[in-house]
Amino acid sequence: MDGSDRLRLLERAVTASTNSISITDPSQPDSPLVYVNPAFERTTGYPAEEVLGRNCRFLQGEDRDQTGLGELRAAVREGRHCTVVLRNYRKDETLFYNELSVYPVRDENDRVTNFVGVQNDITERLRTEEALREIRRAERRRIARDLHDIVIQDLSGALQSLRLIHLQFKSSGAELDFTEELEALGRASSGLRSAVYDLRHEKERPFVESVESLVELNRQATPEREVRLVVEEKFPGGLSGGESVELLRVLQEALTNARRHSRARNVEVRLRTEDGDIFVEVSDDGRGFDIASVRAGVGLSAMRERAEGLGGTFAVYGRPGEGTRVVVSIPPENDTPAPRRL
Ligand SMILES: Cc1cc2nc3c(=O)[nH]c(=O)nc-3n(C[C@H](O)[C@H](O)[C@H](O)COP(=O)(O)O)c2cc1C
Repeated sequence: MDGSDRLRLLERAVTASTNSISITDPSQPDSPLVYVNPAFERTTGYPAEEVLGRNCRFLQGEDRDQTGLGELRAAVREGRHCTVVLRNYRKDETLFYNELSVYPVRDENDRVTNFVGVQNDITERLRTEEALREIRRAERRRIARDLHDIVIQDLSGALQSLRLIHLQFKSSGAELDFTEELEALGRASSGLRSAVYDLRHEKERPFVESVESLVELNRQATPEREVRLVVEEKFPGGLSGGESVELLRVLQEALTNARRHSRARNVEVRLRTEDGDIFVEVSDDGRGFDIASVRAGVGLSAMRERAEGLGGTFAVYGRPGEGTRVVVSIPPENDTPAPRRL
């Protein structure tokens, strides 16, 4: 293929691309656009002739106070690649979320001659994520309401009757003692109340605080077991609402398994980071198990799905008699800004 054939092929490829592509010339005053492909025209609603010769910032309209812009300016200044999410406005003034990647193009002397921008309209994706978050919030509210209005009410009623019966038996001198059962029911009732509280406040609370209260609930449920929480120094204070909820579910499942199946004396929850990745681990010194013969009922596949849903990994280590360790790791959060309500 000779030079002109190659050029024609490249031009056809860029023209046919469904991603919108733009090219700027930083050697001209205010780095104007010198090329936009048809997908750019479709996404923004601006025909090429109206945008060539202008700096692409016009897509931001008056909305200039955006976190991604600082990173974008620095990348352009230093001649390096970056990806940011910006709020942009089409010609008809409707908002769209633009995931913009900018790449420098260098000549044979390593001088930056142009920048190529690849724009990806992620409005639909953010809208779907927001809808999913709203569904999760509604589901948590419903579970909290059912637990509160039905389960806790029934439990409190039964607890009161049992207390009364207990008193009557005692005063009649019968040899029946419900003290332990009453205490266990009392613990279950207060545990449920805290769980309802957590369900209602899960999103607003920092992840580490939610883990603390989850660990505390597990301590109350099994006072005979030592449940330790270790938060290593570099562990991030806040995770996104979605990540936080999913990781809490995995932790809850792992702690329930430890409680029901491990017969451990000690359980440790450890939150740590390694090379930027976030690690959440639950280990115990219980009887362990043979992973190959483990029953499906212990929620391993659900935990794996949650971890993988966050782009992370899930692993279980253990052998009969040697305790169990459950490890979830997820990559660091990207810097996509929290979407506004669309
Ligand atoms: C190749 C390239 C493509 C760009 N595409 C867009 C875009 O689609 N939308 C946008 O708001 N800004 C875009 N920009 C960013 C603006 O041109 C500008 O760099 C940014 O607003 C920060 O600079 P300023 O503070 O001078 O406005 C692009 C920049 C480059 C280099």
